[in-house]
Amino acid sequence: MKRKLAAGNWKMNGTRAALAELEKIAAAHPEAAVDILICPPYQLLAQAADIAAGSPVAIGGQDCHNEASGAHTGDISAAMLVDTGATAVIVGHSERREDHNETSALVREKARSAIEAGLTAIICLGESEAQRDAANTLDIIAGQLATSVPDITTGANTVIAYEPVWAIGTGKTPTTEQIDEVHDFIRARLVRRFGETEGAAIRLLYGGSVKPGNAAEIFATDNVDGALVGGASLKAEDFSPIIKALE
Ligand code: G3P
Repeated sequence: MKRKLAAGNWKMNGTRAALAELEKIAAAHPEAAVDILICPPYQLLAQAADIAAGSPVAIGGQDCHNEASGAHTGDISAAMLVDTGATAVIVGHSERREDHNETSALVREKARSAIEAGLTAIICLGESEAQRDAANTLDIIAGQLATSVPDITTGANTVIAYEPVWAIGTGKTPTTEQIDEVHDFIRARLVRRFGETEGAAIRLLYGGSVKPGNAAEIFATDNVDGALVGGASLKAEDFSPIIKALE
């Protein structure tokens, strides 16, 4: 039975004081029926992993380099994330694709590097508003999926997050029919490429303006195995009800 996943992406938010929220999340869910992941900014990773140790909360990074080490000022490798106690990493977030010109081919190499280091790769995909308006959503998703996901993907080492760019941080969310359509499409493509067992085992998260008020409806959608939450993961009082809605 596939465990659902409630993942929080803190993005570039939080200094050490923010770890109090992580403590609250860990304390509020001592025996969670779902997997919980918090991805804080890099400088908090090791301390976050110490705080989360022994709780059901896992810690992840928000990006990693595709190479193991070397002259890459300002970057972090998958092995470095592992060394902090992280067990997962987000790759290909639309903010990385846009702010750092990351291509799907690079995202695939990052995911490969993460998986080879023993991390779960959370690979993000999503269409822009203009692409949706032009009825290109499924073509965009198909292209990103085919190129961003490495061949070594299995249900155990990879999670896919569908994050429509226009829904991120905007308070706008797709209808459940729109989420359903994209998640079913992704599932079918994964099954076609990786086979029935692995293709069905890869968890599909929805991300984009998930809040306590809309979580239950989104989670009732077929093929939604959890959420990747931005703003509402920063405070335990917002993230805890989302975790509960998934349980
Ligand atoms: O990775 C999560 C994210 O992009 C969604 O952000 O703030 O809309 O929940 P938010």
